[in-house]
Amino acid sequence: MLLLSPEVTTALRCCASALPTEQLTDTAAVERLRCEALKQAPLGVLASLVRSVVEEQGFAQVRGLPDEGTRVLFPALAALLGSPFIDPAEGSAVIGAHVRPSESLMGNQLRHLPLHTDYSMLANPARLTMSLCIEPDPTPGWGALQIADIEAMCFGVESDLDIQQFMSVALPFAGRNAAEGVDILESPIISRDAASGRFLARYHRSRIRQGFRVRGTLPTPEQSSMMLAFERKAAENVETLHLQSGDITVIDNHRTLHARTRCSIIVKPDGSTSGRKMQFLFAH
Ligand SMILES: [Fe+2]
Repeated sequence: MLLLSPEVTTALRCCASALPTEQLTDTAAVERLRCEALKQAPLGVLASLVRSVVEEQGFAQVRGLPDEGTRVLFPALAALLGSPFIDPAEGSAVIGAHVRPSESLMGNQLRHLPLHTDYSMLANPARLTMSLCIEPDPTPGWGALQIADIEAMCFGVESDLDIQQFMSVALPFAGRNAAEGVDILESPIISRDAASGRFLARYHRSRIRQGFRVRGTLPTPEQSSMMLAFERKAAENVETLHLQSGDITVIDNHRTLHARTRCSIIVKPDGSTSGRKMQFLFAH
């Protein structure tokens, strides 16, 4: 956890007031934000510390950002750490999420969101998954973020038979393409990036299930056993982060999996509800 001292919070408040506040709907807007962010020394120092901690353990949690400036500092930090990705379906780099009943998106539902990587169906998934906690779950301890570091899981035991299977047995990951068709990416759960030799983990049980469906086949018993073995091994390596309002988390989406524990909601007299609110951002 990176806990910012009050002096740093004040310095970052000044940085926030100098940054552009336009919506990040295209790469030109992202570039304008990056140019301004580069001029803010305290933000540069924070970005370099976050980079080191992510390098060390696969994720970083930052607490103590100024309340008024967090929504501007969040994408600015992303622009310093990588190249923010504009999701074509959202039309913006920053994506809002709100837990409530009857949501179709799993991330907005109350139930436990299982361990997965983001954009597992893409050949080149975003390297960083970043989140800003706008409002934590109303019940303390609920809606926690869980992270499993695959590098730690494999360290020193790569010859383990299960791990060898995670690295060699291909599974189909399904995703929608621009023409509203379905593309399937065949990949083992764990591979190595050819250029850097670093881990590239991809896992999403729903996307794999959809991949088999589209192919018109079922996973073999061995493939199913391997997936369950992977989920068990990853779960043994889980670290749980409890989020407070204003916390920014940065996750290496190539080497870790993440999950969210179940959520609660406040029910109001008019029948409306309020629950965990987050912003997400993905960067290459
Ligand atoms: Fe995710």
